Parts: sequence; C-alpha cells; structure tokens
Amino acid sequence: MTSRVYAVPEPRTRISFNKDWKFFLGDEPNAKSSSFNDLKWRKLTLPHDWSIEGKFDEKNPAKPEGGGLPTGIGWYRKEFTAPANFKNRLITVEFDGVYKNSEVWINGQYLGKRPYGYSSFSYEISKFLKTGKNSVAVKVDNSAQPDSRWYSGSGIYRNVWLTSAAAVSVKCNGVFVKTTVTSGDKGQSIENRILSPVESLASIAVDIELENKFKAKGNYKILTTIFDDKGLKIVQKQWRISVDQNTSKLVTNGLDIANPKLWSVERPVMYKLVTEIMQADGKIIDSYTTPFGIREFNFDAQKGFSLNGKAMKILGVCLHHDLGALGAAVNVRAMERQLEIMKAMGVNAIRTAHNPPAPEFLDLCDKMGFLVMDEAFDMWVKKKTKNDYHLNFPEWHKSDLEDMIKRDRNHPSIILWSIGNEIREQFDSTGVALTKELVGIVKNLDKTRPVISALTETKAEKNFIYQANALDIYGLNYNHKLYKDFPTNYPGVKFLATETTSALETRGFYDTADTIRRWPKDGKTKFTEGNKEWSASAYDNVSAYWGSTHEETWAAAKKYDHVAGLFVWTGFDYLGEPLPYPWPARSSYFGIVDLAGFPKDSYYMYQSEWTNKPVLHILPHWNWKQGKSVEVWAYYNKADEVELYLNGKSLGKRSKHGDDLHVLWKVPFEPGTLKAVSRKNGKDILVREVKTAGKPAKIELIADRKNIKADGKDLSFVTVRILDAAGNVVPDADNLVDFKLDGVGFIAGVDNGFQASLEPFKANYRKAFHGVCLAIVQSTEKTGTIKLTASSAGLSPSSIIIKTGK
Ligand code: GAL
Repeated sequence: MTSRVYAVPEPRTRISFNKDWKFFLGDEPNAKSSSFNDLKWRKLTLPHDWSIEGKFDEKNPAKPEGGGLPTGIGWYRKEFTAPANFKNRLITVEFDGVYKNSEVWINGQYLGKRPYGYSSFSYEISKFLKTGKNSVAVKVDNSAQPDSRWYSGSGIYRNVWLTSAAAVSVKCNGVFVKTTVTSGDKGQSIENRILSPVESLASIAVDIELENKFKAKGNYKILTTIFDDKGLKIVQKQWRISVDQNTSKLVTNGLDIANPKLWSVERPVMYKLVTEIMQADGKIIDSYTTPFGIREFNFDAQKGFSLNGKAMKILGVCLHHDLGALGAAVNVRAMERQLEIMKAMGVNAIRTAHNPPAPEFLDLCDKMGFLVMDEAFDMWVKKKTKNDYHLNFPEWHKSDLEDMIKRDRNHPSIILWSIGNEIREQFDSTGVALTKELVGIVKNLDKTRPVISALTETKAEKNFIYQANALDIYGLNYNHKLYKDFPTNYPGVKFLATETTSALETRGFYDTADTIRRWPKDGKTKFTEGNKEWSASAYDNVSAYWGSTHEETWAAAKKYDHVAGLFVWTGFDYLGEPLPYPWPARSSYFGIVDLAGFPKDSYYMYQSEWTNKPVLHILPHWNWKQGKSVEVWAYYNKADEVELYLNGKSLGKRSKHGDDLHVLWKVPFEPGTLKAVSRKNGKDILVREVKTAGKPAKIELIADRKNIKADGKDLSFVTVRILDAAGNVVPDADNLVDFKLDGVGFIAGVDNGFQASLEPFKANYRKAFHGVCLAIVQSTEKTGTIKLTASSAGLSPSSIIIKTGK
C-alpha cells in the first residue's frame, strides 16, 4: 500500500491521521508486528464504526438494549513515513476516542491501552519512529458484552491526529483560559488597553503547561496574543521563562480585554488565544491556539440560571452520541444537523448523556450557541451491565475524569461538569467518599464551573451522593411532582432537572386514549400492552412509569423560577434501549425527533413554548375510516385562539387556559381538508392545512443542502416523500424505495425512523415509514455532481442533483 509522507513544518502541526488505514474484523494478534502483511485487509478512512455496518440480530451479544448489532474484536493498521525531522521533535498520535479497550503498537512496540471508549488519549511516539516506513497497529476489543445500556458503536469511531511539536513546547491540552468580567470604567491602570472609554473589562487568566523533553535548560520568551472573533489582534503579552531539561512547568499570566464581546446562546462570540514560545535567537519554536469565549453565568437557589446577568431557563435535551444510520462514527455535518434541528426547536442546552462527547461536538456547541452539561460516567464501582466501565473505574477513573476536564475546560459552552448519571453509589454509604474524590479531581483542574450529578434517590437523608455535601447543584432526574416543594425540602439548594420526561412516541403513529399510558406500568409487571405495529402514539400520551409526557414535565418546570432548567430525555431517538418493546424493537422511542431526524409532533409543542417564532402545528394526518372520532390537536403560540375547519365548515375556536399546552377538537372523520387558523386580536396569524391523501403515486426528494464540500466528509440529507397524485404525503405509505447514485459521492446510510425496522443502515434501499424515508449522501474528494435517483414499483421515480465543490 502507499505510505503517506507526513510533512511537518515548524513550529507545530496537527494533521489528520485518518486516511489509509487497513481493517480486519476479528482477532489477529500478529498484526501488531511491523512486518505483518495486511494486504488482504480492507482499506478505509477513519472515523469508522464496524457495528453499524453489521446485521441486526436478536442473538448479537450487545442485545437489543445495546442496539442489536454485532460487536467483537477488530484490528486497524496503518503504514506511514515518519516526518523527516522527527528525531528533534515531539511526535504524538492523538485518538479522540476508540470504543473500546484499545491497545496501540508502533513498529511492534507497545504504547499502551485505554479501556474507556469515550476518553481522548495520546501517545508520544518520537522515540519509536524510524526513518522511512513505520507502522501503527490498534486492537479494539468490544467483545465482552453486554457492556452498555445504549448503542456504543465499535472501532476507531472518532478522529485521529498526528502532532509534531518542538522539544520545548506547550503540552497537549496544556492551556487553560479563565475569564472574569468586571463592569465599569476600571481600566485606567490596565496595560494593553486599546479601547476607550472602557465600559467593561474581562480579565483573562492563562495557565500554560510547558514541557522540555530533551533539550538542555534554556531561556525562552512566552508570547500570548488574543485575537477577536474577526481575527484582529487585540492584546499581547510576553515574558521570559526558563525550562529545565526533562521537566514540565506551569506558568500563569494575565491579560485584559476592554469591552469584551460576551459569548451567549444568541451571539456565541469566540476569541482565540495563541501561545508562542520564542528562542533566544528570536525564532518561534511553538505556536498553540486555544479558542475561548467570555461569559459569566450563575445558578441561584431561588432565581435559577442566568447568563451574563440575564435570567434564562436552561431548555435542554439529553443526547447520546450515535448519529442514527451513521452509527457512532463521528461526522461533523451530521452533528451540526442534529444541533440545527434542536436549535430550531428552541433548545439552548445539551447534556452529553452519559459520557464525554467528541471534541468537534463541543466546538459546534461553542459556535452555534448551546450550553453544555459535560458528563463523565454512567457508573462508578457498581455496575449497570455485566461488562461495563465498572470493571475499569477503580484503575482509570482519575485519568478519565482528568483528561475530560483538561480537554474540555476552555469551551465557553460548558457550564456544568457532571460526575455521573444515576450512579448506584447514591444508595449506600460508599457514595460519600467517591463523590468527594471525584469532585476534588474536577475542582483541582477547574474551579470556574459547578459540579453536578444526576440523581434519582429523592430522599436527602438516603442519598449518599448528596450527603457527601460536595456538589454545587442538586441534579434531579424525573420526579417532576417534586419541583414545587424543592425550596422547602432543600432550603438554599440550587436545583436543576438533569433528566426528565422519557415519553414514548413513534413518528406518524396516532392512538388516542382517555388516560395517559405508562409503558411499562411499573417495575414489576411484564409489558404486554403495546400494539402489533411496535409503535407508541405521537399524541404525547405515553411515557415510561418513572417519567411523564412532554407536557406534564414542561408544565411543571416552566412554573418555577427555582428550577434552573431541564434536560428532556431525549432530543433524538438513539440506537439501543428500545423500551418498552421487545425485539425487533432496537432503538429508543424517547426522542422528540426520530432516528432519521424527522420531528415527531411534540417537537412543535416545544417550539411553540421555547422560541419566539410564530408556531401553529396540527396533528394527526387526515386519513381515517369514515365516521371515526378523531382527536385533532393544535400547538400554537403568538395567538389568542385557533379555529378549525373541516371542508370549509368551522368546528369551533379553542384557546389555551391555565397549564394547557395544546388545544383539541373531537372530529368525526370525513375525507377532505382540515384547516387551522391561529388569530390574534381577530387577525389571522398562521394557517395550516392537512388533506386526505390518495394512493401513492410519486416520489419527491428534498435535499437539506444541494451544494456540499468535496472533502470526502460532507453530507446531504435527502428526505424521500411518498406523494399521492395531488402532491400530499401519504401518511401510511411504506413503499420500498431503491436508490441509485451516479457521480462523485456515495450513500452513507439510509433510514426511516422506525424503531423496529431490521433493514440495514448501509444499503441502497429503504422502506418508507409513515410516508417518508431518508438517504444520506456523502461527498468524495472529487468536485462535480452527484445524481441520486429514487424509484419504487408503481410510482414515478425522482432524481436530485447535488453539487460538490472545494
Ligand atoms: C434514565 C437513564 C437514561 C435512560 C432513561 C430512559 O433513568 O438515566 O440513561 O435509561 O432512564 O427512560
């Protein structure tokens, strides 16, 4: 195979190490040797998740709870040419995440292992490199199952980087930028002040960890320069230091920014700190960039959360890391699309359930304006599944937690460190010491953010994590009926609803009931309700017994200022945890949006409450049996009332009162057009129509983007709609759609959001589900056009052109 030459000009480079890997699914212990012949192995580009490529099978050891896909052992190898000047430099290979139990060799030499699949880690490889050809081998062992309560993915599923730095340089994740905002004209004595008059000031305290691997003690200058969001240099400071051979050193300094532009969810302004090391002869030998933001936030026991002095509620969702049909393999556009969909719903915060996310996810949150609760663990010493991280916690928790904090602490988006979700140690006295230890680890590295844990034991005296008295905020999962009296029961304690709801819904499936269903009913009764469609009603009338409907919890959370905010379980459906259904269900029903990215109706309830844009959404579809009494719901805002018409005849006006979050009509079905009009002071605001659809006649393709980058990574998400002859979506259409792709791209995945579909995600076909499915088109590195054609027996086909450019 060709071996790529990595040119590494000074002062520092960090380049993608994703290309030209070889992969073998199975165990091949000899593959660590540099002379191993991997010619027959599959060639691929990282990030890669082999589980998502596999077949669903009830017998797969990960079980339906883990997504029902294969796991096992896999090997990766890569040959590359060492950078020309590697002997005088620090060459490091950085892994953003490998699921799991990775072991790495370079030229047959063992570098180490990393059990936790969500940690980022690196190895310094300079001393193992040879002139010319080198090989790196990675064993990934995800064979001990069950290992997770949700789908983890398997493989080198995040990015890999090769860094080259000078012998004296800034350590990886070695810069910590702490910002404090002070108001008023306090800037008179401040050096570096460039703007006048100074209305506000940000003090920037910078900690820099330097290392000198092998150079004799020397004198250097450190230069720190801050650039604003436009790339303009706004302040610089330099000072002298000396670093002894074979040591690392922590240096700290401070700079000030006059009239800082604050980071907020509406205006997420980012600054950049560049740290340079200058030799005595004036040569810059290292340059290390740290993006950061300036913001202040506060949690208050009575008033809740505020950002930059402005009260706001944390309107959050929990997200697992999988990207639906793409599995766990990191793709920036797929993550960005998820966040765009959340933003449009009004979400302003994400909880990374229940593990550290990909670094690019946090970059997106910084850039797009999301607050983040960054979570470390789902278990400590006590297990949740047989082979989960509890096996590694005793030996690894310190490194895993420290590495998360050090990697992530410059992100302005992060406002909370979570040391764990529903940790079993909350129920016994071992929780006290562990909580203190973990909080101590965090505070030692970052005192600027509160530490929280998502708790379920609601009795203070019985909750040993709470009893440790070390957490800054009480994080409660579920139990929305306790919100009201929280200030009485926990006087002076800050409060956040760290996880809520767990409503169950299938997009496009409607089933009315006089009472709200709890599926399962309790912890003891076997689940036998449900339906042969393996679906849960999208009327927001089903939830897990420990949870609530979307409306129940939101109505409670919005009422009380002392509830700083909430994180709804979950923003998107995710692979695994298909509660309450048994196989073939294999992905969750909890999402506000389905696995393919299509919103369920509750999305619009939140949009009507959480955004300022005018909303009117009606449900369900309008294809029923003649005479059936159908509940028609409307979510709306910015209006006093909604009037509903069937075939031009008014069915009456409705308005929300008290805690109402929707209005409803009971309508005897007759085919035709259902029309809703929202009005304010008698003036029409919005109109929505839904029509009875006829038989499937044609296919419509809608791409979220028709111009994408020819970078081999960018994606166009193409929605496939099955329409009747008049152009209405056919709500029960399940036609099998075949895809043909010509040009400079490929189909990265297909999906339809159905939680119990056993069709593969990597395919060129998909059945529609409630009238729609999705094809994800990925670019290559060639510029040109991609033509996607969708066809289905008996329907007129459809094509779409996507252009790729540099
Ligand atoms: C919570 C748990 C989540 C998920 C959810 C499902 O208790 O923290 O990870 O399992 O239940 O309702």
